[in-house]
Amino acid sequence: MKRKIIIDCDPGVDDALAILLALNHPEIEVEALCSVTGNGLIEHTTANALKILKLCGREDIPVYRGCNESLSQEVPETVDAFGDDGLGGYAHLVETTQQPEQEHAVDFLVRYAREHSGEFTLFIIGPCTNIAQALRKDPEFVHHVKEVLIMGGTKGFGNASPVAEYNFWADAQAAQEVLAAGFKKVTMIGLNVTHPIALEADIREMLRIFATDLSTFIYKITQVGVDEAWQSAGRLVAPMHDVLTVAYFIDPTLLEVIPAHIDVVTEGIAEGESVVDLYGKYHQGQCNAHYAATVDVARFNELFLTTVFPEFKDEIIQYIKENK
Ligand code: BDR
Ligand code: CA
Repeated sequence: MKRKIIIDCDPGVDDALAILLALNHPEIEVEALCSVTGNGLIEHTTANALKILKLCGREDIPVYRGCNESLSQEVPETVDAFGDDGLGGYAHLVETTQQPEQEHAVDFLVRYAREHSGEFTLFIIGPCTNIAQALRKDPEFVHHVKEVLIMGGTKGFGNASPVAEYNFWADAQAAQEVLAAGFKKVTMIGLNVTHPIALEADIREMLRIFATDLSTFIYKITQVGVDEAWQSAGRLVAPMHDVLTVAYFIDPTLLEVIPAHIDVVTEGIAEGESVVDLYGKYHQGQCNAHYAATVDVARFNELFLTTVFPEFKDEIIQYIKENK
């Protein structure tokens, strides 16, 4: 039986890649996409979610438009690393007539969770606002979700501040409420493991050579990430952060995860910082999450590429074996 998932996202190049991976895996059933402001304002992230479905011929999957404002009722500063349109300047390549559903994402989440209690995994790959609002709206929501996988947080370095990762920083209160809510199982897949899986230039070049509609699209939308990484850090890579949540769902052996008590700083100079207490050492051994500590990059690459491009499986495996 297929495993049901809901992806709460802010597409976003790396969100797009995460969705593509999920849509291309035979054992995953994407039940819905929910949008939130992050890599762009809500109208852009919602439109991009619809475009990704169109690209994959999956306009049967509903998209629910979510929150534009964080819990503090401010519109978070959006990310410009993925271009003005969130898809590296290539959002215009895909046109769709599919419209978002009338129901708000938060209402959908609450309703869906009641109707499918214990049956689905929730991916949070944008700011946590929609999920925090669902928790506030329905105290039972927390009990209906089988598992939560979050791309957010970090340990050691940030990308929105010296200590904070963007998704947690954009709505720190929401991130804290999600972590403190008491979900059955939560895994924080943060920058410390998503930074190393950035798409390397040679693998990106492989996508150009494959020359399918999908590989060409990925090649194009990741260009802006490479340009930014080159200018800021002298690296020839494109960010892929969110993809790791779906890859981990497919193959949990890709990550080493450690039980931890995780809090998010909600104000002050460290706002958005995830404070990771491994094994709950400072919380009498109480843990509220799992912390992803290390990642197997070569095996991630193989899983991502062979799932999205099964027709090139042999070439991909051979290349990774000889070069990574
Ligand atoms: C996270 O922030 C967003 O820009 C990305 O899509 C990812 O979810 C990385 O910090
Ligand atoms: Ca995202």
